[in-house]
Amino acid sequence: MKMKSSKRSIINPFIVMDIMERANSIEQKGQTVVHMEVGQPGTSAPEAAKNFLKKSMEDNPMGYTVALGLPDLRKKIAELYGDWYGLDVDWNRIIITGGSSAGFILAFTALFDKLDKVGLANPGYPSYRQIMKTLNLDPILINTTEKNKYQPTPNDLSRYNINGLLIASPGNPTGSMIDREPLEALVNYCADRKISLISDEIYHGIQYDMQPSTVLEFSDNCYIINSFSKYFSMTGWRIGWIVVPKEHVRIVERIQQNMFICASHASQILAIGAFEGKVELEKNLMTYRDNREKLLNVLPEFGFNNIAPPDGAFYLYIDISEFSSDSYDFVKKMLDVGGVAITPGIDFDPINGKSKIRLSYARSTPEILNGIERIKIFMREKKYLQ
Ligand SMILES: Cc1ncc(COP(=O)(O)O)c(C=O)c1O
Repeated sequence: MKMKSSKRSIINPFIVMDIMERANSIEQKGQTVVHMEVGQPGTSAPEAAKNFLKKSMEDNPMGYTVALGLPDLRKKIAELYGDWYGLDVDWNRIIITGGSSAGFILAFTALFDKLDKVGLANPGYPSYRQIMKTLNLDPILINTTEKNKYQPTPNDLSRYNINGLLIASPGNPTGSMIDREPLEALVNYCADRKISLISDEIYHGIQYDMQPSTVLEFSDNCYIINSFSKYFSMTGWRIGWIVVPKEHVRIVERIQQNMFICASHASQILAIGAFEGKVELEKNLMTYRDNREKLLNVLPEFGFNNIAPPDGAFYLYIDISEFSSDSYDFVKKMLDVGGVAITPGIDFDPINGKSKIRLSYARSTPEILNGIERIKIFMREKKYLQ
């Protein structure tokens, strides 16, 4: 007899990871693929960070750290809030996590009980709703509009009875940001109704024509999730942080002690060193800016005319309804026939995502130019019909 599995384990795959897997098996057969699927910088952790870790490893046994994380790293992150937003954040409120993904588990566990309803912008990062389901929470998809840059407004929320709200600005898949005033309005809306607010600020630092605001500018009564994966170019090191209200530090500490013990010691050291890599990180930003401009110039020529406002991050969320009503099929053909890995909109939006795709432009400019050439041929020769 087969071993029984839980009902809460029945969640959708993270489709972008499935596409990455499909791309890898194509590469193993000797074909080349341009990777524009996953939100992963083409660069490594900054050199300064790697050198700092190498030196530290010589005489550091890399045992467990305390559950909240190395104080030196927490203090560096507190300084970042001063540099980026002019805010004085008490480092004791900052907790080091195994990437923002572990941060979600800590935050959802600390804030919500079984069947609590948590609002999420639709489209949005798919793992929010899948993690919530595994924790027996009830993710509520808040449909957003093009007019509001695919971000939720108090008016949208007024139709729902929710215990929590998770926002992301810049968001994934769109890269769009919530302007300062509407962000403050959302914070106040939640405060007035005792809705626990979580702000995923993982793409802060990667922005183009406008600056993102942190929710901490408006309230200390919220959870901020962030990570070294994106701006700091350290995806595989699995290291991030959360900022919580002072009286929640002990709550999260207890959960972290029991669930994870602590974040990886080596990754925490690397993260301390990453603050010395500013010049390299700013160079990465120039690459994203350049890639974004190249894509925005050329994509309309291929018939991609409807693109969400890409204020930040390194994604373009594109309407393909003129070419396909099945984004997964379109994406599989783009990969198998066109040699470019991209992500179908259904990963981010189970309702309208069949007519959307997401391109990531986090890789090097030569790679993106190669991708553009391949997409051009794919669209010109209508290979999506094959
Ligand atoms: C919006 C958003 N939040 C969180 C994550 C997960 O990041 P981490 O590597 O910190 O776990 C991602 C990854 O792409 C993301 O796009």
